[in-house]
Amino acid sequence: ATRLRVLSGIQPTADSFHLGNYLGALRQWVRLQDTHEPFYCVVDLHAITVEQDPKVLRERTRRSAAQLLALGVDPERSALFVQSHVPEHAQLSWVLECLTGFGEASRMTQFKDKASKQGTDRASVGLFTYPVLQAADILLYQAHAVPVGEDQRQHLELSRNLAQRFNNRFGRTFVVPEPHIVKDTAKIFDLQDPASKMSKSASTVNGLVELLEDPKRSAKKVRSAVTDTGRDIIFDPEHKAGVSNLLTIYSALTGRSVDDLVTAYDGKGYGDLKKDVAEVLVEFVTPFQSRVQSYLDDPAELDKVLARGAEQARAVASKTLAAAYDKVGF
Ligand code: ADP
Ligand code: NA
Repeated sequence: ATRLRVLSGIQPTADSFHLGNYLGALRQWVRLQDTHEPFYCVVDLHAITVEQDPKVLRERTRRSAAQLLALGVDPERSALFVQSHVPEHAQLSWVLECLTGFGEASRMTQFKDKASKQGTDRASVGLFTYPVLQAADILLYQAHAVPVGEDQRQHLELSRNLAQRFNNRFGRTFVVPEPHIVKDTAKIFDLQDPASKMSKSASTVNGLVELLEDPKRSAKKVRSAVTDTGRDIIFDPEHKAGVSNLLTIYSALTGRSVDDLVTAYDGKGYGDLKKDVAEVLVEFVTPFQSRVQSYLDDPAELDKVLARGAEQARAVASKTLAAAYDKVGF
């Protein structure tokens, strides 16, 4: 049986992925390899919608790819590539931009949020058309499924609308993608401010766990995580956000259910829980970091993996683009 195609991307906009990226998204990328045919890309075209230093961007793109491989993205089962290596993304994006209404694009709430942070006049046109490029990413691979969190629903809806609009106007060309609601995704919160999600841009210094930082530093952050003045280790995100966040992390990293953990910690204190979470985290990141390092120490091998991924991607993307160009009258 042929497997359903899945497409997902991540921006190379930090030196390291953080624990939220892993437990909320990247872990599912690895799992989807068992059931789907994945196309995974490091979306450097998306990254330049806000200003990037070229040297830093290039380095982060490689580090992102190395981290994905170290987390278990398997080039034998997934096409892993860098978006700018496949020119069809930008080419299809232009066609789709010409099918997108200005008003329609103006309703994208993520643009409004991001643009208002930098002043709408200074925001780039690329940031404005970002969701259209995202549609091109998906439609090029005829992806059936796109793993989405709440924050990406509106963009996926635009991708679906553009696929349908193109198909109606020019004849069937694109698969209309469905959201793939992933089970077992965990939303991870800032360790110091458990009301806010862990985020590379918004987290407090000690509330963010970067997968590539010194594991001792991560352990210390966990041991000094904000909890509450109570004593009971129970899962209650509303009243015990800090403790619940630690239970979520522990459960996600070990596969033990939260209920199991609550039972196991009956009568124990917050200090015991923090110590144990710190320990499982260190056990996870230590071998991860040495795998990342081995990819970074062998740039030729990393280049080879990414070149092969781009080749696999282009084999599909070039066919889709040719069909779309032909339909449009090019
Ligand atoms: P950030 O919020 O740090 O800027 P991104 O927006 O680049 O991270 O997110 C990349 C992926 O990681 C997305 O799929 C996003 O939903 C997921 N993600 C980011 N932060 C978290 C979090 N705290 N908990 C769960 N998933 C997260
Ligand atoms: Na974000």
